[in-house]
Amino acid sequence: MRSHYCGQINETHVGQEVTLCGWVNRRRDLGGLIFIDLRDVKGLIQVVVDPDFESLFATANKLKSEFCIRLTGKVRARPDSQINANMATGKVELLASEIEILNGSDVLPLSLDGHQNNSEEQRLKYRYLDLRRVEMTERLKFRAKVTSEIRNFLDSHDFLDVETPILTKATPEGARDYLVPSRTHKGQFFALPQSPQLFKQLLMMSGLDRYYQVVKCFRDEDLRADRQPEFTQVDIETSFMSADQVMDVTEKMVRQLFSRLLDVDLGEFPKMTYTDAMTLYGSDKPDLRNPLFMVDVADLLKDVEFKVFSGPANDAKGRVAALRVPQGADKFSRKDIDELTKFVGIYGAKGLAWIKVKDLSQGRDGLQSPVLKFLPDDALNAILKRTEVENGDILFFGSDKYTVVSEAIGALRLKIGQQLNICSNEWKPLWVVDFPMFEEYDGGLTPLHHPFTAPVGVTAKELIEKPETALSNAYDMVLNGCEVGGGSVRIHQQDMQQAVFEVLGISKEEADEKFGFLLDALKFGAPPHAGLAFGLDRLVMLMTGATSIRDVMAFPKTTTAACPLTDAPGFANPEQLKELAIDLIKDKAE
Ligand code: AMO
Ligand code: AMP
Repeated sequence: MRSHYCGQINETHVGQEVTLCGWVNRRRDLGGLIFIDLRDVKGLIQVVVDPDFESLFATANKLKSEFCIRLTGKVRARPDSQINANMATGKVELLASEIEILNGSDVLPLSLDGHQNNSEEQRLKYRYLDLRRVEMTERLKFRAKVTSEIRNFLDSHDFLDVETPILTKATPEGARDYLVPSRTHKGQFFALPQSPQLFKQLLMMSGLDRYYQVVKCFRDEDLRADRQPEFTQVDIETSFMSADQVMDVTEKMVRQLFSRLLDVDLGEFPKMTYTDAMTLYGSDKPDLRNPLFMVDVADLLKDVEFKVFSGPANDAKGRVAALRVPQGADKFSRKDIDELTKFVGIYGAKGLAWIKVKDLSQGRDGLQSPVLKFLPDDALNAILKRTEVENGDILFFGSDKYTVVSEAIGALRLKIGQQLNICSNEWKPLWVVDFPMFEEYDGGLTPLHHPFTAPVGVTAKELIEKPETALSNAYDMVLNGCEVGGGSVRIHQQDMQQAVFEVLGISKEEADEKFGFLLDALKFGAPPHAGLAFGLDRLVMLMTGATSIRDVMAFPKTTTAACPLTDAPGFANPEQLKELAIDLIKDKAE
């Protein structure tokens, strides 16, 4: 239907007749002439319609925004005074000779210019229109480039692209499963994969050596800006490679990606232990663009009378930490601090103590703080020394359970970093390593990664005896405070896999029922193997500067895991349910 794309017309086409197809981005009537900005997937071009061509002019007069048209005309150079430097095709325009209206358009239910006014719900309901915005189209194009680069890299490094099943059994990655009822096995359900973890391990046991897949994963969990119920992983597994080797090759891939697509040199990624990350930043995905860090002070406060501090200071599971904000004393009023206290409350903190340092040379008189009276000289001086405060600084304190303080002060660090605009603009990647194997949850233990992650330096027996202190051979890739990928060396011996199930309180029967196929496979010469999975959506979000992964997905879901466009999920009809032998329990509220 067309000879060229709108966005590709330039001075080399001057004098040529071209036929274009696209949408009316804008129509302007100026001094008897009609100007049309015609848009297609490759960009915009200005079209001029001369009133001398009467029937043509009459058609042009009917055009409204978003009409889909086919248009023929001659390319001509714009006079110097009319060149538009902001437009790729700004040096030329088209003098129309034919216009065919392929389809009209109602007034759009959302604006394609001032899209800030469109609600998220509206954008998702009319996603096909929202995607007409150049910004959105460009993001999808960029995403395709990312996957293409990744595929090229992995193909050229001997990774084999293998598809794994979507209708499968539960793969535990810490979320709830999406279940699909089976018609042929009534009362039974498939689970959609939370990740292809077990299948990729089985592929290593098949001897495939290096696998990858760009694959959809499904997790029924609380959604946020960087989480969707259905998202894409770049999933990777290797045999006979150490953790360091997996990190090397995947780091090389990400560096090449950034260098080729963004012309950014990420440099070598530093490695940080989980313990250091938690101690300094209160997070296992620290944003290193932010210069603030935490300092532990519990040991200095064990003997103070102020219970808020001495309680957690004397509790093995407690933490007392300070956050120093250089030159922050004048930046936070009482009201600001009240706001911050409310903010840390979201994370369970019961308060937010602080000390403003006006003039150290004046001793206590040079300090301002609601907790000053509770702190004896020796403790106070030791805190000031350890935190290396200077005149003009403010210290904030968290004192509570370890996780509460880490999360609350970790979040405060990020908030203040943003508020005071003190974060660097550089890219800050790192590897977080040496994770604990397990963390406490609901009175028991749960894996920090997944139950197929290998521990470091312990036998199966030792792991069962002392699971709390075991470290795992896992690694996360973190970029600007976002976990973009995670992986580990896997357990390849049956006794160790059984030991992990035992620690997790999974009985032998349950393990056999859920993971019998894996335990079996480990019996037949399973090779040592290791891998990693990237969150493709997160990677693309960061690379495009989008603030949510929804903005780099064509058809994402809302925060309640629904699709306003198709109205999914929907009710099943009674016939279908009958076939599946499913009887619905009526919600009392209905
Ligand atoms: P993990 O659960 O860490 O590991 O997932 C790997 C990466 O996938 C991304 N991700 C998500 N992205 C969007 N929405 C979600 N709901 C979501 N959940 C996870 C993150 C994360 O780093 N099988 C292991 C990997 C392995 O061990 O090889 C796994 O799935 O960027
Ligand atoms: P209170 O004695 O409860 O009035 O608290 C005195 C100061 O300590 C106030 O500034 C509180 O915000 C702060 N505070 C109270 N509980 C905590 C806590 N768990 N962690 C940090 N600061 C706290």
